Amino acid sequence: MPATVIVGAQWGDEGKGKIVDLLAQDSDLVCRYQGGPNAGHTVIVGGETFKFRHLPAGILSGKQSVLGAGCVVDPGVLLEELDDLERRGIASEPLKISGNAHLIMPWHIAIDGAGERRLGKLRIGTTRRGIGPAYADKALRLGIRVQDLLDPKILRQKIATALEEKNVWLERVYEHEPLELEQVASEHERFAQRLRSYVADTSLLVDTALREKKRVLLEGAQGTLLDLDHGTYPFVTSSNPVAGAAATGIGIGPTRIDEVVGVSKAYVTRVGRGPLPSEMDDELAKEVRELGQEFGTVTGRERRPGWLDLVALRYAVRLNGITKLALTKLDVLSVFDELKVCVAYRLPDGTTTPDFPAHQSDFHHAEPVLEPVSGWGEPLDGCATIADLPQAARDYIQLVERALEVPVTLVGTGAAREQVLAPA
Ligand code: IMP
Repeated sequence: MPATVIVGAQWGDEGKGKIVDLLAQDSDLVCRYQGGPNAGHTVIVGGETFKFRHLPAGILSGKQSVLGAGCVVDPGVLLEELDDLERRGIASEPLKISGNAHLIMPWHIAIDGAGERRLGKLRIGTTRRGIGPAYADKALRLGIRVQDLLDPKILRQKIATALEEKNVWLERVYEHEPLELEQVASEHERFAQRLRSYVADTSLLVDTALREKKRVLLEGAQGTLLDLDHGTYPFVTSSNPVAGAAATGIGIGPTRIDEVVGVSKAYVTRVGRGPLPSEMDDELAKEVRELGQEFGTVTGRERRPGWLDLVALRYAVRLNGITKLALTKLDVLSVFDELKVCVAYRLPDGTTTPDFPAHQSDFHHAEPVLEPVSGWGEPLDGCATIADLPQAARDYIQLVERALEVPVTLVGTGAAREQVLAPA
């Protein structure tokens, strides 16, 4: 603190929502800096489960919450989440949305789905929420932004201009029925009326908060290995989850960031396609999937589990400048007497490396060098601090600390807010 980034250190789904929710208790502001409704945060508070796609988890604690310029916003999905909050008696006013964030429009969702179908076997396995097409239009400077919701005339004009081109693509390339201008425009005019009051200069808001020495959490969606520039391209998302992007995504300078908390599971999972060197065999994977409830929050898809991959984690430490690590879901490994960790990759030329391969062919063919580690084979329910954990579990944590040269300061042992342990 005051400005702390929370970043997924693996392929997303590390349990960031829960860590953000916990750290939000001691924060004044919680901001999302990239991504859109492809993210899925599950937070359990007081026995109640909240599943967010857009909203920063801090909103549950009534903290000022920001969707930064680096985000893409599906207005329909966001309004559903806001309605759900209000129904459960939680105020939505603390939310502020950057006018520079881009909107996910119906054609983005149609093109995402149709594009994946066309790719067939070569598909990426996207969440089909329109993420890639929305960021592509942003880069092409054809996007419609949140601030366009403030002026009904501009909004309608931009939708009409976009549809003229998008309908050609939809019909001729993707064999999709065209979208109706009247329907899209009137739906978005309704969205606009409801969202206008949330639009704000969020860069200024965060800057002011930092000047006033308030504590700001900057929350990344997805994870490091899904980063558009540094992840396992093309099996990545279309934004930059890495910590450096928190500055651009919010609109503050990189010198304002003090701390980077990486979040990693005690094992690893990946959803969608792409290589996963330490992937478990089918039987083990099934067991871990059941124990850890490894099914996508957004799509319900099965996640693919693997042993903890220290090569990939070291890469995440490097890319993000991680200063502290939160290790989640340690309890899921309690059933095993023996565990494995991936300490290096064996490359196609027969050499082994502790470093993440810079070339995709090396990564695609990398074999994991797995080392056996003693399990603890007992539940972790009674533990109140990291010091209470069984010796073998503490050894496992120390092995991670030594390999990464980063302290593990939080350990997750269950789904509830209270089941995140700190040092004694
Ligand atoms: P997109 O972000 O929907 O374009 O999907 C691109 C890739 O990122 C796919 O492999 C998705 O499964 C993955 N992905 C996107 N968001 C998440 C997430 O929040 N958790 C895990 N994987 C994600």
